[in-house]
Amino acid sequence: MTAVTIPGVDQAPTTHQRLLAWVREVAELTVPDQVVWVDGSEEEWTRLTDKLVEAGTFTRLDKKPNSFYAASDPNDVARVEERTYICSQDEADCGPTNNWMDPAEMKAVMTELYRGSMRGRTMYVIPFCMGPLDAENPMLGVEITDSEYVVVSMKIMTRMGTKALNRFVDADGTERDFVPALHSIGAPLEDGQADVAWPCSDTKYIVHFPEERLIWSFGSGYGGNALLGKKCYSLRIASVMGRDEGWLAEHMLILKLTSPENKVYFVAAAFPSACGKTNLAMLDPTIPGWKVETIGDDIAWMRFGKDGRIYAVNPENGFFGVAPGTDFHTNPNAMKTIAKGNSLFTNVALTDDGDIWWEGIGDAPEHLTSWKKQDWTPESTEKAAHPNSRYCTPIEQCDTKAPEWDDPNGVPISAIFFGGRRATTIPLVTESRSWQHGTFMGATLSSETTAAAVGQVGVVRRDPMAMLPFIGYHAGDYFKHWIETGKSADATKLPKIFYVNWFRRGDEKQFLWPGFGENSRVLKWAIERIEGKAAAVETPIGYVPTIDDLDLEGVEGDRADIEAALKVDVDEWKAELPLIEEWFDKIGDKLPTPLRDEFEALKQRLG
Ligand code: GDP
Ligand code: PGA
Ligand code: MN
Repeated sequence: MTAVTIPGVDQAPTTHQRLLAWVREVAELTVPDQVVWVDGSEEEWTRLTDKLVEAGTFTRLDKKPNSFYAASDPNDVARVEERTYICSQDEADCGPTNNWMDPAEMKAVMTELYRGSMRGRTMYVIPFCMGPLDAENPMLGVEITDSEYVVVSMKIMTRMGTKALNRFVDADGTERDFVPALHSIGAPLEDGQADVAWPCSDTKYIVHFPEERLIWSFGSGYGGNALLGKKCYSLRIASVMGRDEGWLAEHMLILKLTSPENKVYFVAAAFPSACGKTNLAMLDPTIPGWKVETIGDDIAWMRFGKDGRIYAVNPENGFFGVAPGTDFHTNPNAMKTIAKGNSLFTNVALTDDGDIWWEGIGDAPEHLTSWKKQDWTPESTEKAAHPNSRYCTPIEQCDTKAPEWDDPNGVPISAIFFGGRRATTIPLVTESRSWQHGTFMGATLSSETTAAAVGQVGVVRRDPMAMLPFIGYHAGDYFKHWIETGKSADATKLPKIFYVNWFRRGDEKQFLWPGFGENSRVLKWAIERIEGKAAAVETPIGYVPTIDDLDLEGVEGDRADIEAALKVDVDEWKAELPLIEEWFDKIGDKLPTPLRDEFEALKQRLG
């Protein structure tokens, strides 16, 4: 055996043999200067944020305590769906919405990329836990990374460090399973070579090996590509675990709703990236007497409880929210959360007095430093903040977090919302007829693309259950899993499924629905439908409220616009049918028959 000379590799604060062996193997491949086992302490945070300030990656904010501004490489600002792979052993377990490569072939390619990729850098070993630490079966992972930015971001977004590592080996010595997640920015430093503020590589790979529950990411430092507990583990890998074990890993916020009669309901909602999850999760209701508290803003893990209801857990520990458009009107709770500090801001603009700024936060000052680190004035033609700029902040300091947010049993879900960003066709809210019909709504969900992923913005595409970029296996099998989940349950205990659209537009391109806090009116209607109290009309697409069925007292919107937002336009829906047909053809033989039946029934009803 060759003697390992990499300092730190043997200073492991664990006896977990599989973890020790993997860390050593990665260190020998990537050849970092040293290995550091991350403990998650405040001292460590201070040491790493100081280092990031010194490296020019971070600028300390004078106006927000313990908070930092970062500007990424202009080519590393969003998820890279074209470079994201599901490397299942059998190609038939992937596709048609995922990229696939043979796992052995992919490993051969990436092993060469990782060889020496951490030269001149520190390799950090981050033990983490998705979901509550005191869960009976804690969902463990370890991210190895050569990015300090990733380490401090993971401290906000996950339960990590010593407190997570403590759960790797039980008192009786049993070693628990964990998801190994390897990340390298792919920017080794030769002796004497100066570093840049945001090192990354032009070659990017975000790769999942579903059978091995293994993640390999290379070349990017951006959140969705590099914080591997989030989309990679909690959606792509977890969706495969859910398929195998009978539960659901979904791209959903979770909120707690309390009615004026003090009845409590929990709602989960799936919207594609940058389509309103974080805003709805932190909503400040405009209708008196209703209260919303936050459980999660991005991901829900849903399992059947002993009582036959579906219970949801938020696996995350922080919010990674879209900054532009966030202000005291649209999302006051996010503003209050970040005002407390302890937050990271990436690709926003920086004010001259050391605060952050973005489009939609209020009047622009005379001068800013843009996300591209250039001078910016109100006359500038470019945006000061990147449209996918993000704040990263702990849930712990959100005043409206629900007490249940850290409950390992999760919360019982009464309603599931699917929603997208559509300028036409999709009404403000539609109630499904059944779980199967709701699954059809989810499976045919469509949305305009946003800046959250690299590529053209504003193009309508199918985004099933808002999971298009996140399903870790074949989309047809995923639909089957949804149908079977419904069949396995007592129908009276299943959540009711609704389809919403906050983004329908009028003749002047204006949003027809005021959105944000006003969305509480839609939540109220949905709950009152569950209680059997609210009215609706039956339409070809499902049950839709008339304008009188919604509580609109004091609403901020125009009545004619709201009527238009609620409209079921048969011609628009007929134009939608070929798009659904094309989508189902793409799914192919694996499309479950019940969804084909739902489609035929919809065609019939539209005439
Ligand atoms: P997420 O990525 O799904 O969490 O989306 P966010 O909640 O961060 O919202 C993405 C963008 O949509 C932001 O610019 C928001 O201001 C905007 N947005 C969110 N909710 C609404 C709404 O109800 N109406 C309108 N018009 N815009 C919204
Ligand atoms: P989100 O995704 O837009 O759904 O918050 C974050 C990401 O880009 O991975
Ligand atoms: Mn979000």
